[in-house]
Amino acid sequence: MSTDLLAGRRVLAIGSALSGLASGPLAGAQLEVGGLDRLSAAGLSAADLVIIDADAWEAPDLAQGVQTLAALAAPPPVLLVGSHLPTTVVRNLLRLERSDVLEAPFTDEKIAYAITGLMAQKAIAPVPTAAASGQLARCWAVTGAVGGAGATTVAIEIATALCARATRDKSVCLIDLNLADGETAAYLGAHPAMRLADLGASGDRIDVAMLQAFVTPVTPRLDLLAAPRDPAAFDATSREAVLRMLETACESYEWVVLDMPRHRRSWTLEALGGCDEMLVISELTVPALIAARSLSDEIERGVGSGAKPKIVLNRLASRMFGPAPSMAEAEKALQRKAEGGISSDWEAAAASVNLGGPISTHRPKSKIVKDVQTLVDGLAGAMAKPGKAKRAA
Ligand SMILES: Nc1ncnc2c1ncn2[C@@H]1O[C@H](COP(=O)(O)OP(=O)(O)O)[C@@H](O)[C@H]1O
Ligand SMILES: [Mg+2]
Repeated sequence: MSTDLLAGRRVLAIGSALSGLASGPLAGAQLEVGGLDRLSAAGLSAADLVIIDADAWEAPDLAQGVQTLAALAAPPPVLLVGSHLPTTVVRNLLRLERSDVLEAPFTDEKIAYAITGLMAQKAIAPVPTAAASGQLARCWAVTGAVGGAGATTVAIEIATALCARATRDKSVCLIDLNLADGETAAYLGAHPAMRLADLGASGDRIDVAMLQAFVTPVTPRLDLLAAPRDPAAFDATSREAVLRMLETACESYEWVVLDMPRHRRSWTLEALGGCDEMLVISELTVPALIAARSLSDEIERGVGSGAKPKIVLNRLASRMFGPAPSMAEAEKALQRKAEGGISSDWEAAAASVNLGGPISTHRPKSKIVKDVQTLVDGLAGAMAKPGKAKRAA
């Protein structure tokens, strides 16, 4: 008895005694017979099924072979057969996503049945993660010194600019931590889908797959995590859920950009402490500059790692509209240098939010786009590769 599922499929049989299966349960398959050394190159792209004869090998060699399979990025289904099946080998084998064991002696029907079961199980599509390559996202937080300073606008433009540096799809994640009334989704014309409050006490169980259920894809490279409007969201969402969500995002993307609420929550300092950069957005008014200086000092003291927020001056305009401070005067008020300045362009900013999408999409020639690009280049280095974030577990 053979199984139709195997017609034309590549089967790697480890152990010469298995070649006899070619005329029985493996009829129709492309059968290759080899030794344990073949397992290191037996990923899904090389074999659709691996059958191992446990009786042909010593237990330690067998255990090594199973470990080799487990280390493959995409191991194929594995069937271990034999009259002597070492327990440790079996236990390790069953940790593989698709595996089975069959004790000898067995009939053709039995092995065909086991193979059918294995081949029918769909491989769970791996979620592409930065963590798979051993890296965590670089995470930047953006917060406004005063309401309306432009934090959301700048966070969106930074995230879009970072997409140009990304090496693959789904590499940048913009996270709106204004859980009650965040505006990123509305500015981007996207539908917010993050419902952390619904998780209740199980928020600390968020994993990569659950995170993906909360994500709104904006472009192939840019994902958004934003919550639907809910006045009770801050009180209803646990600190653990927010921090676990951030940690999982940092394991899944190359870049994470946070649109932070101005008011401190129970998770604010920990979230900021895990960031590589903290940006305080100010406008060029005296109250905003004073607030920017205070907020920056408060964050620095609170985080306590020595990391300092950087101040970005937004909506720089020529003085023809009134007695606004110059950049130099602003830096004097701030008692520190500003990291960058972003020009004012009301038409571009308004057109983009009205059309739904980044300014770089709707008004690519706006000075805002150029200034954000300069800011991002300064912070990330000219087209530098993503590195490791300092985020602690
Ligand atoms: N550089 C800029 N030039 C012109 N308008 C801007 C600029 N940055 C932001 N805006 C506008 O200012 C308003 C407040 O910006 P927003 O990003 O929502 O601020 P925040 O998130 O700090 O409250 C919005 O209408 C936005 O379009
Ligand atoms: Mg905002």
